[in-house]
Amino acid sequence: MDFTVVRKNLIRLLADGEFHSGSELSQSLGISRAAVWKQMSAIGDLGIGYSAVQGRGYRLDSPIELLDEASIRNSIDAGIHELVSAIEIHDVIDSTNNYLINQDRCGPGSGVICLAEYQTAGKGRRGRNWVSPFGNNIYLSVLWEYSCGPSALSGLSLAAGVAVIRALKRVVSDHFRLKWPNDIFWNFKKLGGILIEMTGGAEGPCRVVVGIGINLLLNPNKAKSIDQDWVDLTRITGGEVPSRNRLAGFLIGELMPVISNFENGGLDDYLDEWRDCDCLKDNPATVFAGSRQVTGVVRGIDHNGLLRLQLPDGNIRVFASGEVSFSPPV
Ligand code: BTN
Repeated sequence: MDFTVVRKNLIRLLADGEFHSGSELSQSLGISRAAVWKQMSAIGDLGIGYSAVQGRGYRLDSPIELLDEASIRNSIDAGIHELVSAIEIHDVIDSTNNYLINQDRCGPGSGVICLAEYQTAGKGRRGRNWVSPFGNNIYLSVLWEYSCGPSALSGLSLAAGVAVIRALKRVVSDHFRLKWPNDIFWNFKKLGGILIEMTGGAEGPCRVVVGIGINLLLNPNKAKSIDQDWVDLTRITGGEVPSRNRLAGFLIGELMPVISNFENGGLDDYLDEWRDCDCLKDNPATVFAGSRQVTGVVRGIDHNGLLRLQLPDGNIRVFASGEVSFSPPV
């Protein structure tokens, strides 16, 4: 999608969530009022809700805090900056994960972070689409290069989940939960997710992209395609939209040590915290793994991060991957 400087400047002018008249906008941008109108409909296509009121002008449905590298860096803890080799912010991208996994980068690999205001083809797990309207949520990916092969990194997605929970708690003090393997939940509703992609040979080295999506303020009209209960941080706080730049900085601050240490430390350091946030434990559930469908009661995760499911005959079966369906207890 063509994203022009004019369009970005228009969003900047409207980001305060106040009314701005068509003539004020046309003067500030140096374009005609008809062109302002055309640009407004283009920003609507990005998923930004707005109203146009005769005699008052245009107003966004909610203010937007645009991503800003300096503000993000201000929220990254001292001592973590050396693990960050670059922060790239894109207005529009297909997918921050695609960008980092496909890119034939000449520069540094490990520690490149990509954030976007809008994803045209945001990816979820299992081929799902990740709803990614402009300016209100977090779409963040981290690239890291490991000398080991992918099999040594099997618990990384669980460890990343712990890092995300740590970051969320610094912004909103609440009990966030994890749904195996790596969904971020609150009150049995999905708040965010993690998508890890790897390339490289079985023996290593390998390139890994850890992609995080967190809903901060998701317009229900844009979320119609989501086929499960979802929530955003604004609903959790009761209406206060947390700062996106601050949360992005906290996510980077919590993720980087976990990602960079994983090759040496593995999952052990994160198991207790993961188990403390486990929203499936002791719940009846069905695991869909390939063409198999197995029903039982979830009995937590083992020391490798595999899901333990107790079958009706009392035996425990473990799963390395799969999709879990469960009904929240009433
Ligand atoms: C899931 O299905 O729960 C995983 C969702 C992961 C979404 C994030 S948004 C940033 C990164 N880029 C993508 O295309 N996907 C991940």
